[in-house]
Amino acid sequence: MIGYSFMGAAHSQAWRTVNRVYDLPARVRMAKICGRDAAKVAEAADRLGWDAHTTDWRALVNSDDIDVVDICTPGDSHAEIALAALAAGKHVICEKPLANTVDEARAMTAAAATAAAAGVRSMCGFNYRRVPAVALMRQLVAEGRLGTIRHVRATYLQDWIVDPQFPLVWRLEKDKAGSGALGDIGAHIIDLTQYVTGQRITGVSAVTETFVKERPLPGASSGLAAEVDGDATATGTVTVDDAAIFVARLDDGALATYEATRFATGRKNALRVEINGSLGSVVFDLERLNELEFYDATRPTAEQGFARILVTEAEHPYMAAWWPPGHIIGYEHSFTHEMRDFVEAVATGVDPTPSFADALQVQLVLDAVTRSAECGSQWTDVEPALAALAV
Ligand SMILES: NC(=O)c1ccc[n+]([C@@H]2O[C@H](COP(=O)([O-])OP(=O)(O)OC[C@H]3O[C@@H](n4cnc5c(N)ncnc54)[C@H](O)[C@@H]3O)[C@@H](O)[C@H]2O)c1
Repeated sequence: MIGYSFMGAAHSQAWRTVNRVYDLPARVRMAKICGRDAAKVAEAADRLGWDAHTTDWRALVNSDDIDVVDICTPGDSHAEIALAALAAGKHVICEKPLANTVDEARAMTAAAATAAAAGVRSMCGFNYRRVPAVALMRQLVAEGRLGTIRHVRATYLQDWIVDPQFPLVWRLEKDKAGSGALGDIGAHIIDLTQYVTGQRITGVSAVTETFVKERPLPGASSGLAAEVDGDATATGTVTVDDAAIFVARLDDGALATYEATRFATGRKNALRVEINGSLGSVVFDLERLNELEFYDATRPTAEQGFARILVTEAEHPYMAAWWPPGHIIGYEHSFTHEMRDFVEAVATGVDPTPSFADALQVQLVLDAVTRSAECGSQWTDVEPALAALAV
């Protein structure tokens, strides 16, 4: 694993747990963790449960005793590390968004395709696909229970930088993060809605805004709870969007709206998706992640209404291995499910999803949103990832 902060901790928790919950064809050994600071990575290895640690990711991806490389760093290092790991024949799991640019994502997808021909697997970490209620939502759509999809309404709202004194952390710098709210949280709802509906976004019209353009420089910590440097007068320029809002068309005719912002005061990590079809609707709200609302318009009129499904039954996706019905799970379990699917795919020799090509498709949407916003919200087509690969 490379990177040991937020996602490093979440993934470590999942790697530690996955074989204890699921009966899998392979056992995970948490071999080595990498970071740039020797003392901090040593402490992280001990706390998170890794056998060894290093500050040299190149040596790590070329180690003979490593089979899988898990990339939990900011987007500016995803491409370099993933390309090196795939070239060394390691299976790769890479956090989202896949890269900072379409060109990088395209190169990673091409390398993943070449590696797959030699049995080397790769996957992007869109973990919300693995929330059981989201997987159930997809199942209902795929079974035709919603009929023809007409509307997708997706919002991902946070408020951690509302304070203009919040420091200029890496997530607010384009060269490190690629984009702002758009790529960080917008990427999740783009992937989730394309996954659930099975439809691709074909075009967008967008607005983006950076409300606070200068911020104090950060101190040592640069995560979501960062502090300002001792010299509070030093400031830097925010080079990413604080908020991105766009309308979109899906390839089977649905209209969609997306909102991703870090300025929704009071909203901490509020991801909500509603889908309306000719035969019914579904609603998912991350703050109630064990539940799915389902409106079945085929029921007798007198009985129609939104039903709250508690997604904790053994027949629900991922749930059989957890607790008895009604005993709920949380955010971290989505990562355990992600590792379960990844380990199973690697051990049984199939390509896991979301693939790098799926993640390239998300990257193409991010790029189209940015270009549309730069051109006064001009309608901007999103090319299909496969055509992009052929370029
Ligand atoms: N799936 C999710 O829900 C989710 C949530 C948060 C973040 N992410 C993604 O995970 C990735 C990491 O985000 P985070 O929140 O964990 O960030 P973070 O700032 O908490 O941690 C980043 C880690 O990477 C290390 N690092 C940075 N550059 C490095 C380099 N060149 N070489 C080695 N180590 C390096 C840092 O020291 C730190 O340990 C990003 O791509 C982000 O978009 C995904």
